[in-house]
Amino acid sequence: MSKLRLGVNIDHVATVRNARGGSTPDPVRAAILAQEFGADGITAHLREDRRHIADADIDALMDALNIPLNFEMAATDEMQKIALRHKPHAVCIVPEKREERTTEGGLEVAREENQLAHFIAPLREAGCRVSIFIAADQRQIDAAHRIGAQVIELHTGAYCDAHAEGDFITRDAELEKMRHMSTYAHSLGLEVHAGHGLTYDTVQPVAAFPEVMELNIGHFLIGEAIFRGLGPAMDEMRRLMDAART
Ligand code: PXP
Repeated sequence: MSKLRLGVNIDHVATVRNARGGSTPDPVRAAILAQEFGADGITAHLREDRRHIADADIDALMDALNIPLNFEMAATDEMQKIALRHKPHAVCIVPEKREERTTEGGLEVAREENQLAHFIAPLREAGCRVSIFIAADQRQIDAAHRIGAQVIELHTGAYCDAHAEGDFITRDAELEKMRHMSTYAHSLGLEVHAGHGLTYDTVQPVAAFPEVMELNIGHFLIGEAIFRGLGPAMDEMRRLMDAART
């Protein structure tokens, strides 16, 4: 099985920084450290309300990183301009609601197919790999494929929430859906990624899907880094991912 890439999401270093309004802890420093500790990529979500990552963080990440930046953004004109200015390796289109605490669901690609097709075309032309963050739903995967996305990222949140709540029937059903849909998406030629809410307890069943090429993990890893340091926190995640793969 191919090696699974670990993308480290550094948004929540910025959450802590912004809680005090100063310049520390610096998410760019976290990204550089994650790179040194073997991250395959860095993910950062520039939200419309700039609640964590700021525009200057994206500028600095583009300058500082030697590994790919996966720039998460909503499908808005403002974000498209920023992405086209920076031309990051990958752009992941996510749904965004101001009142939500985090990205709660996948994107409704099927409902907004035409707009999204027009929206992503210039990003693709600029050389960005376009990824669409969606639920494990065949309708959404078909739509993502039709609009010309190269990658889908499966939203693992429902699976992780069910695990945390001890609802193992729902958890296993969510896992089954993701398993089938990662095979299906792969059969269409889409590259499959996954992420949201993954922890040491939940990562392995998802890492074991052979079609999944990349996991993007943030909140748990940054939290764990408080206790163990970022390097050891990442090492343990990597160990679990690799073990699930063999
Ligand atoms: N992938 C996507 C598309 C996301 O929006 C997020 C959260 O910003 C993540 C992965 C990482 O989720 P978490 O921080 O819960 O690990």
